[in-house]
Amino acid sequence: MKLGSFVMDRPVFLAPMAGVTDKAFRETVRSLGGEYVWTEMISDKALSFRNPRTVRMLDPEGEASPRIVQLFGAEAHSMAKAAEICQHYGADVIDINMGCPTLKIVKNGEGSALLRDIERAQKIASAVVRAVDLPVTVKMRLGWDETEIVVKELGRRLEAVGVSMLTLHARTREEFYSGRANWQWIKELKESVGIPVIGNGDISRPEDARRMLEETGCDGVMIGRGALGNPWLPFRAQHFVRTGRLTGEPSWHNRSEVASAHFERLLRYKGEKIGLKEMRKHAAWYVKGFRQAAQLREKIMQVKEPDGMLEILKGLGNYQGDYQGDYQA
Ligand SMILES: Cc1cc2nc3c(=O)[nH]c(=O)nc-3n(C[C@H](O)[C@H](O)[C@H](O)COP(=O)(O)O)c2cc1C
Repeated sequence: MKLGSFVMDRPVFLAPMAGVTDKAFRETVRSLGGEYVWTEMISDKALSFRNPRTVRMLDPEGEASPRIVQLFGAEAHSMAKAAEICQHYGADVIDINMGCPTLKIVKNGEGSALLRDIERAQKIASAVVRAVDLPVTVKMRLGWDETEIVVKELGRRLEAVGVSMLTLHARTREEFYSGRANWQWIKELKESVGIPVIGNGDISRPEDARRMLEETGCDGVMIGRGALGNPWLPFRAQHFVRTGRLTGEPSWHNRSEVASAHFERLLRYKGEKIGLKEMRKHAAWYVKGFRQAAQLREKIMQVKEPDGMLEILKGLGNYQGDYQGDYQA
């Protein structure tokens, strides 16, 4: 498939995840062979005001292309302005969030609220397409709830205004993350539009990625929760999809090294205080499957100094047991 000048063979994307897919995590995934990553969602307004924290979220310095930046907002004008800023800072692709279900977001008309106002959704996409010389993509859900499924209609409207690719998380807003994603809709969207469609929802193993491609005919897939504490998964899924061969699970030694390197990146980009605070949740994910995970998590939550955290992460390397922590959808 093609996205602007980027040619990709059944790409496996790391999903945008607020509070997770920052520069440190994206680099960690890339260091393990993951090719395609996405920023966290970034507020159009905060970016327009050049809020320093928000501008840092965007910083693509040193990152390989394609650099895909996700924006959220409710107004065409400010989304277009934010997209221009992203282009200025070196983004290669602008993605628009039409799926975030959180109340804080939808009450402002942003994220999945746009699924209830597809005129506005189309206007936003059109304004962003006109504002930049980059491919513009949209990530969305099926609709607000099961009585308001808009995916095909919205997909066609977005294609008509020049959107280059659609990613579908195959749940409604009301479902949040519950139940199972309904992959049938990915197939239906793919059959309704001529642009590439990326399928998303409940890929927790490399085999799921291949199954989604086969069952839905989508052009690529995206992995979210499956990559939490498991930054190997995007590469492993990509490799399996392309070659049919499964690479082994990383050893505990490997887990320990990767988690430590991830933490070092966080300290470098965010400083000791925020880096340590943010590593707590990642570390709790990394120890999933560890026999004494509960005790370790307690230690992780209490640790007060970066050295203490590093010691815990290095200690993972001495563990001999099997890994049993695969995320289950
Ligand atoms: C912690 C977390 C943060 C997320 N943040 C975003 C976001 O910023 N933008 C977005 O489009 N989706 C976001 N999502 C949704 C994911 O991108 C993805 O669509 C969803 O998790 C379903 O995929 P999965 O079953 O592979 O997890 C988030 C999900 C999680 C778990």
